[in-house]
Amino acid sequence: MIEIKSGRDIETMRESCQMAADTLLLVGDRIRAGMSTDEINTFVHQDTVRRGAVPSPLNYHGFPKSVCTSVNEVVCHGIPGAYVLKDGDIINVDVTTFFKGFHGDTSATFYIGEPSPEARLVVEVARECLARGIAAVRDNGRIGDIGEAIEDYAHSHGLSVVRDFVGHGIGRKFHTDPQVAHYRLPKNAPNPRMKAGMVFTIEPMINLGGWEVEVDKKDKWTARTRDRKLSAQFEHTVLVTAAGCEVLTRRPRHLVNSEPKVDLTAAL
Ligand code: MF3
Ligand code: CO
Ligand code: CO
Repeated sequence: MIEIKSGRDIETMRESCQMAADTLLLVGDRIRAGMSTDEINTFVHQDTVRRGAVPSPLNYHGFPKSVCTSVNEVVCHGIPGAYVLKDGDIINVDVTTFFKGFHGDTSATFYIGEPSPEARLVVEVARECLARGIAAVRDNGRIGDIGEAIEDYAHSHGLSVVRDFVGHGIGRKFHTDPQVAHYRLPKNAPNPRMKAGMVFTIEPMINLGGWEVEVDKKDKWTARTRDRKLSAQFEHTVLVTAAGCEVLTRRPRHLVNSEPKVDLTAAL
């Protein structure tokens, strides 16, 4: 069952989603070489609490920190720690804010200093994959339309799409129905219709090499590409509307340290 949200619920989700978006903007203003991922965690934690909200990741199924920080070959669920960011790194920061009973979930990949051509490619394709996934959202469309648009674009640049993690319904629960695959669904897979009032995330993880990932045996969270090549991700929480969709985690200004480094659509 995919929940259809009431007008009141949507109003509150706008608030939690805008808080997450704002915290992510502030991360972008601060993130730089020499900063540890623990410092990012401290900032996100304090910024969330000062808004009267709670960081959803903290203690979620035992997750030990308040934000996910996924550097270079880490696909998702990186745990903040002593690692110090260095020039040429890419890092996804995934912020989820719980406010007035609702979660808002958004992430972006940042450039630390000057990226390599490979880093630019994977980050800019991931950015455009999210845009194309969002463009596929419409009332009465199919959830599978999203993954089709994303996979086609990633493959057009020779990149792969992670299959082990998907977007998700969100609201009073962090993760709920529907599952939003970022790849083309098999013919026989459930492929529900999108309906106005549904809220879910789209969060494609795009790899420079193969799509296979492995989860760290010790910490049980950190997911890395099996071939240790780069991975990048962007995430928004979206509401299906009669007109198409509303990006609930839309940013009121551009992110610093995640400006597009090359226009890849021009080449298509
Ligand atoms: N924010 C992640 C997502 O996009 C989930 C993180 S779960 C955690 O779904 F426990 F690692 F925080
Ligand atoms: Co999510
Ligand atoms: Co997230």
